[in-house]
Amino acid sequence: MLTDRLLGKGHYGKVYLGYDVKKTQELHACKVIDRCDKKFNAHAEHLVQNEIENLSLVRSPHIISLKQHYKTKQHYYIFTELCNGGDLGLLKKSRPGGRLSEDECRVVMKKLVSGLRDLCEFDIVHRDLKLANILLHFPLEEGLEGENGSKLETLLAEALVASD
Ligand SMILES: Nc1ncnc2c1ncn2[C@@H]1O[C@H](COP(=O)(O)OP(=O)(O)O)[C@@H](O)[C@H]1O
Ligand SMILES: [Mg+2]
Repeated sequence: MLTDRLLGKGHYGKVYLGYDVKKTQELHACKVIDRCDKKFNAHAEHLVQNEIENLSLVRSPHIISLKQHYKTKQHYYIFTELCNGGDLGLLKKSRPGGRLSEDECRVVMKKLVSGLRDLCEFDIVHRDLKLANILLHFPLEEGLEGENGSKLETLLAEALVASD
């Protein structure tokens, strides 16, 4: 199920907070791609299908896993594991001077390299490595906060009420 809580924007689609109707406590991210958009051409369709195929193939603790995907005449809906901490670009922007600490860099680089190594195992090359594509996830008990100071669980509860 999809909520209207926007998590981020990509080249061909927007990513929203979603959840599994059978287990409402399990939050997901859902990329919604408009197949009728002017810029959505045959090449874009190929890239999206590649993304779905690769995500369903790879099993790695450092690569988001695919949960479900649907294709309608107008849209693709790609449900994946949710990363609750935004992306590395946002974290960089939130820091004075755009700098992360050495300890943070060490953790990020270790996980990044490990994810890339896992991709290699499947003969997959990541061709769009950039800060916005490096997603962060923290255990919820660490109390990570969303944009307006609300935790993601609160945001989901609000979104569920709004969609009643
Ligand atoms: N699984 C996710 N969990 C949380 N945020 C996400 C997730 N997937 C994407 N996002 C957010 O949406 C943005 C765009 O998604 P992305 O998959 O990078 O789109 P594109 O395929 O166009 O590059 C990301 O930069 C990130 O901020
Ligand atoms: Mg991206």
